[in-house]
Amino acid sequence: MRRRPVVLGIESSCDETCAAVAAGPQEIKAHVVASSLTQHAAFGGIIPEIASRAHLESIVPVVDEALCRARTAARRLDAVAVTQNPGLIGSLLVGTSFARALSAAWELPLFVVDHIQAHLYAAFIETPLRYPFVGLVVSGGHTALYKVSALGRQAVLGATRDDAAGEAFDKVAKMLGLGYPGGPPIERLAEHGRPHAYSFRCTCDGSDFSFSGIKTAVLYKVRELEKRYGKLDHAVVCDLCASFQEAVVNDLVAKAVRAACRHKIKDLAVGGGVAFNGYLRRRLREAAAAAGLVLTIAPRPYCLDNAAMVASLGCRLAHEKNS
Ligand code: KG4
Ligand code: ZN
Repeated sequence: MRRRPVVLGIESSCDETCAAVAAGPQEIKAHVVASSLTQHAAFGGIIPEIASRAHLESIVPVVDEALCRARTAARRLDAVAVTQNPGLIGSLLVGTSFARALSAAWELPLFVVDHIQAHLYAAFIETPLRYPFVGLVVSGGHTALYKVSALGRQAVLGATRDDAAGEAFDKVAKMLGLGYPGGPPIERLAEHGRPHAYSFRCTCDGSDFSFSGIKTAVLYKVRELEKRYGKLDHAVVCDLCASFQEAVVNDLVAKAVRAACRHKIKDLAVGGGVAFNGYLRRRLREAAAAAGLVLTIAPRPYCLDNAAMVASLGCRLAHEKNS
């Protein structure tokens, strides 16, 4: 195998069918995403059966498109990498079966990649990787803090006890009639609201996370306001979004920075769909600078589910196996 392996990455854990080609962990040649999101819109969340069927329809064209955009023929690939877990079982099955078939047909090694690890290492697609680092993953299904000392060597410092951060954004958005996914509309409306209009707080101490209490607090506040004033007007919805976002961001930033300081680790990496949030990114930057930490946040195109992070981590795994 060449020193910098060329890897085809496939990701199908939720509603996005994704393929990417990487020629090394920091060289993404192409990445393609086909989302079935609009097919789920009427249901207010992802319907697993619809997602699996959409993956079946999209997987061949998406992989073809990634290879075509990367100008890479199958014979120039060194390995295939695929997300195996966690995710929707039917969706994962489409990606893993297809990747296994390609690996067998093209006689290429197959690397199975953990979705959460891929989110974590996405922070280092454009920035050189240095160990050790403290990693924060904030996605729709997971909120977790890790101490990472080498590839595959990490300790969980904290994890969510109930709803993940993204899940809380999605549930609060649903309460406010803002649609799915909830992160983008909440972030947009929060820009016009007052972050201290309502006092919401994440109550979980230590390094674990809990966002279910804050979600319920928003629900009670919405009910109280509706009872008093009827349908909520735009300014009130903006205030609710800003106050909710403030509480979640305060908690994420404080716990990530505290973990790095407590473990005397200078590098802090952040990835996952919620890391797309501009307010979180700004607050992380400010807090890291104040604490003297080196912060790396996944570049925005690699925050939400994508196969570039899978191909990139696949390159790291392939390199390690061959060194
Ligand atoms: O990582 P991801 O694409 O999928 C999972 O692995 O879960 O994350 C999706 C989550 C959703 O809950 C979505 O609401 C949230 O990321 N999200 C955001 C933003 N964009 C997406 N949360 C806050 N602000 C955003 N701008
Ligand atoms: Zn994800």
